Amino acid sequence: MTGAKLVLGINGSPHREGNTAYALRHAMAILEQEGVRTRYVALADLDIALCDGCFACRSGACVHDDDMTSLYDALRACDGLILASPVYMGMVTGQMKVMMDRTVLFRAGSRFELSGKVGAGIACGGFRNGGQELTLQNMQTFILQQDMYALADGPRFSHSGAAIVGRAAEDELGLQTVANLARRMAAAVKARP
Ligand SMILES: Cc1cc2nc3c(=O)[nH]c(=O)nc-3n(C[C@H](O)[C@H](O)[C@H](O)COP(=O)(O)O)c2cc1C
Repeated sequence: MTGAKLVLGINGSPHREGNTAYALRHAMAILEQEGVRTRYVALADLDIALCDGCFACRSGACVHDDDMTSLYDALRACDGLILASPVYMGMVTGQMKVMMDRTVLFRAGSRFELSGKVGAGIACGGFRNGGQELTLQNMQTFILQQDMYALADGPRFSHSGAAIVGRAAEDELGLQTVANLARRMAAAVKARP
């Protein structure tokens, strides 16, 4: 698959093999079937410091030298990005939020390094109406603020992105939204120049 488009999937759960991992891997498997390369990253494996808000990134690099350095490169290299987060108190996890904050470097000053890439979200909550939509909106807001294109999960349902309720492996309808989102992402990244 040399030359194939690349989608980066970031799992914001503290659980390496939880529901979010299951849903994101499902999306990655479908992307691979569609001829798209994938890279899977679990924030649980990374050490990422809080953003200090110093804006040193405006005039060079972030003051922190941690695992965000390699994730910056992965974000620069991808064509598409799938953010996958459990719902925590109706929002993304702290891990996901810290990662998103640290990407302010990509939009420091007037440049937008991630401009034109494609992004989408997967939210996994324990309960129906547990905050999956707001969690997806958290991730879409990030995508839009990075001047990226935000995708929904697409037909047949097309709401705010892919949403899982309860155990991912048993949520047949939720996994359909994940599959739809992955196929939509594959089409979108293939359309990129
Ligand atoms: C601190 C905490 C807060 C949570 N808040 C919510 C919530 O607001 N709504 C919800 O539906 N589930 C909530 N849950 C449940 C998780 O979203 C759910 O178990 C999810 O599947 C976990 O994903 P994971 O297995 O990938 O970690 C919460 C769990 C924790 C630990």
